[in-house]
Amino acid sequence: MSKIFVDACFGKETPYTPVWMMRQAGRYLPEYMEVRKQAGNFLNLCHNPKLAAEVSIQPLDIVGVDAAILFSDILVVPNEMGMKLDFLTGEGPVFEKPIKNQDDLDALLGGEEAASKLTYVYETIKILRKQLDERGDDKALIGFTGAPWTLATYMIEGEGTKTYNICKKMMYSNPELLHKILKKVTEVVKFYMEKQIEAGIDVVQIFDSWAAAIEPSKYDEFSWKYMVEIAEYLKAKYPHIPVIMFPKGIPAFLPSVYGKFDVFGVDWSTPMAYAKEQLGDKYVLQGNMEPCRLYSKEATTFCVESLQKTMGGKRHIFNLGHGILPDVPVENAKHFISECHRVSKK
Ligand code: CP3
Repeated sequence: MSKIFVDACFGKETPYTPVWMMRQAGRYLPEYMEVRKQAGNFLNLCHNPKLAAEVSIQPLDIVGVDAAILFSDILVVPNEMGMKLDFLTGEGPVFEKPIKNQDDLDALLGGEEAASKLTYVYETIKILRKQLDERGDDKALIGFTGAPWTLATYMIEGEGTKTYNICKKMMYSNPELLHKILKKVTEVVKFYMEKQIEAGIDVVQIFDSWAAAIEPSKYDEFSWKYMVEIAEYLKAKYPHIPVIMFPKGIPAFLPSVYGKFDVFGVDWSTPMAYAKEQLGDKYVLQGNMEPCRLYSKEATTFCVESLQKTMGGKRHIFNLGHGILPDVPVENAKHFISECHRVSKK
């Protein structure tokens, strides 16, 4: 069955413009909080395929999005390469022993060996594939990975950072080591995404959430080229699986974007009209409502209508310009989805 979401990723005509929200399976949903409590904590939830599948499906039924995204986290990859990971309440992810030198890197598993350890992710996808096929309601399943750069920022800093000073010190004083880290992660991610595809996802999204930490003239060298390597590897083997690239916060790099992939995810700091002018002929565009507009239904409707006017219902997928925040009222999220469907219905 051809899915409206997959058709839209390939730029085909669809009866309306499909929509999903980054971070749609999460804390703004009381039903998510309930299942997380059952699992004990966030990582346990990622490791439990049955419960992870349950929270992946929740936004389809509760807010009415057109695609489910696999419930997991980008950081399970470095975790299975051998880096001990904790999610501390109120502080976010922490790696016990960040990479400081070549020996730390050499101690980590690479390639297929690391990717083979993520069995709980593939198991979650298999459950979701079966459930979505049984529903028969045309909803797609998105698999994902972090971009090598975004993963490397956590692997080197050991936690979230405002300044990225440790990885940037490496970027400018020991770029060889940073490239070795990025290469090793890229190899794992290629196998990881291949296994996600084999397990049953319909679409791939690569999140480069911390793209904006790199100055524009260095962005290709330290991030984009590795993302393109992954995308082109997948497109050569699985041309029927659309690839979405989401580098957050890099409007200055837009004229330099290249590579074989299908959808460019536009973040909220980039005007959609500018993205269309730069990239609209080459890629389908996804995005890009500022997520905080979800606090107001009026502000949401205004933005959805203006996005529809800019894109004209062509070569577009509605989304937020980054993840939904935990204190957004569910009712407002529903309003966003139904407004996207209303304004784009043909
Ligand atoms: O709904 C979905 O989008 C699917 C699930 C998903 C999660 N994380 C669940 C999650 C996805 C796609 C991610 C990706 C992810 N994880 C990114 C890239 C996307 C983005 O938003 O930029 C990044 C940078 C991470 C790393 C990460 N995971 C951080 C920094 C944090 C803590 C900050 C926070 O939001 O609390 C997480 C935890 C996390 N990942 C949660 C969820 C639902 C919250 C954990 C909880 O339930 O307590």
